[in-house]
Amino acid sequence: MVFTIMVFEYLLLLFQVVVYKNKMKICCIGAGYVGGPTMAVIALKCPDIEVAVVDISVPRIAAWNSDQLPIYEPGLDGVVKECRGRNLFFSTDVEKHVREADIVFVSVNTPTKTRGLGAGKAADLTYWESAARMIADVSKSDKIVVEKSTVPVKTAEAIEKILTHNSKGIKFQILSNPEFLAEGTAIQDLFNPDRVLIGGRETPEGNKAVQALKEVYAHWVPEERILTTNLWSAELSKLAANAFLAQRISSVNAMSALCEATGADVTQVSYAVGKDTRIGPKFLNASVGFGGSCFQKDILNLVYICECNGLPEVAEYWKQVIKINDYQKNRFVNRVVSSMFNTVSNKKIAILGFAFKKDTGDTRETPAIDVCKGLLGDKARLSIYDPQVTEDQVQRDLSMNKFDWDHPLHLQPMSPTTVKQVSCVWDAYEATKDAHGICILTEWDEFKKLDFKRIYDNMQKPAFVFDGRNIVNADELREIGFIVYSIGKPLDPWLKDMPAVA
Ligand code: NAD
Ligand code: UGA
Repeated sequence: MVFTIMVFEYLLLLFQVVVYKNKMKICCIGAGYVGGPTMAVIALKCPDIEVAVVDISVPRIAAWNSDQLPIYEPGLDGVVKECRGRNLFFSTDVEKHVREADIVFVSVNTPTKTRGLGAGKAADLTYWESAARMIADVSKSDKIVVEKSTVPVKTAEAIEKILTHNSKGIKFQILSNPEFLAEGTAIQDLFNPDRVLIGGRETPEGNKAVQALKEVYAHWVPEERILTTNLWSAELSKLAANAFLAQRISSVNAMSALCEATGADVTQVSYAVGKDTRIGPKFLNASVGFGGSCFQKDILNLVYICECNGLPEVAEYWKQVIKINDYQKNRFVNRVVSSMFNTVSNKKIAILGFAFKKDTGDTRETPAIDVCKGLLGDKARLSIYDPQVTEDQVQRDLSMNKFDWDHPLHLQPMSPTTVKQVSCVWDAYEATKDAHGICILTEWDEFKKLDFKRIYDNMQKPAFVFDGRNIVNADELREIGFIVYSIGKPLDPWLKDMPAVA
């Protein structure tokens, strides 16, 4: 009996060794908004692959290994819980996991440069370059290296140079596999992507690498949705897709200004326009402006690439998308100030929503930052409520310099001073108590269900609502007694004679 058990255990061990040895290993450098969810879904859908997500940020990895994940994303908790410790691992031992991997994804920050050549536009590839140098240093076997970060077109060429100069005879194939997920719907987007794009060198080795990555995605993505292109098309398609998306928002936001001037209603206009099947209904919601970590950064990067390639007219065309976005945020602030007797000095303004969109706690480039800074510039007192954003984050955002946020956490310069006129509360009713005005800056569902009669009763009069997301019923609020401004909607009689832009 004992002998039989021993034989059984031996065979089991042998089986595990064989399976373990043949198991494909993926390592992802960068455990952020892209690396974390993307790898969790690969691990879930590919139980035969071992996935390690590594990062230089110790607190970030600790959070991935805890019950309180470092990012809020609907559905993410369930996916991580199912795979973590099975075939999904989070670690700070970057070198070990890179060394062991067959495929290395790189999903590190690619911020906008703040100094030197191309400052304010070009992508800062410091983190990418250091990741590539480390891969070259620690590797002992051939690897496929995948660009998951959004990078300037032709980055793969530079990466190739770093990797192939390792003089160890190790072969690297570089692929571009940009990510198209949107925050708040990341898990849904990863489960059911419109497309997966893989770009590679058009050589036998390049094609083999493309095929290997294709097989990973083919575990759950239908083959016709996995597109393969050359490297440069894949890199540029990512920048182009974000530019097209942002351009739609700037287009509808530009129309919103004209709607306010003419009495047209932007919701009706975008509905009518979107009914054209060639245009389509999505991504036509007028707003206080687009935010998020990528649209502005990627368009600035595109502008820089155009300028470097001697295409100033094309650069100017895309620059306008950012200019309209800045105009829209300014316009909103000016509406608030001019409606409230041309000053908000020492007035309490409630800010409902600080995240750049609903269903995320992410505040990177959120329009709320510019709106709050604008109001603070006019000496307002702000009471901020967002269900997913902490006071610490708000203070960081309001005191950080432009583009400084897009660096690994421990490298972000921290201002020792807090913005005193700002307080954060954990309840919309508390935020609006005794306020003169309310700015709705994120479209959280819970804001649609607020008891506005109760809110009105507890506010200073006249009480104002400035809806930067068009989520409240302006007529109902006017019935209660509010003066209401909604982006791109026929103006409240109160606002009609006030200048929109100073
Ligand atoms: P992020 O800041 O959330 O994550 C990046 C991580 O990389 C950080 O945790 C940082 O500590 C880590 N890192 C940086 N250098 C490192 C190094 N040398 N070794 C190990 N770890 C390192 O950023 P993100 O939002 O995940 O974006 C990453 C990339 O993906 C960017 O290029 C971005 O443009 C692109 N992208 C982002 C989204 C999105 O929705 N956030 C979507 C598509 C593409
Ligand atoms: C965007 C793209 O949608 C993703 O495909 C891309 O992968 C990602 O950028 C990236 O590269 O980082 P994300 O920024 O997460 O995703 O969110 P979006 O849903 O695109 O929203 C961006 C901003 O535009 C938000 O502030 C949102 O409120 C605003 N928006 C969006 C509008 O103002 N109106 C709309 O109709 C849609």
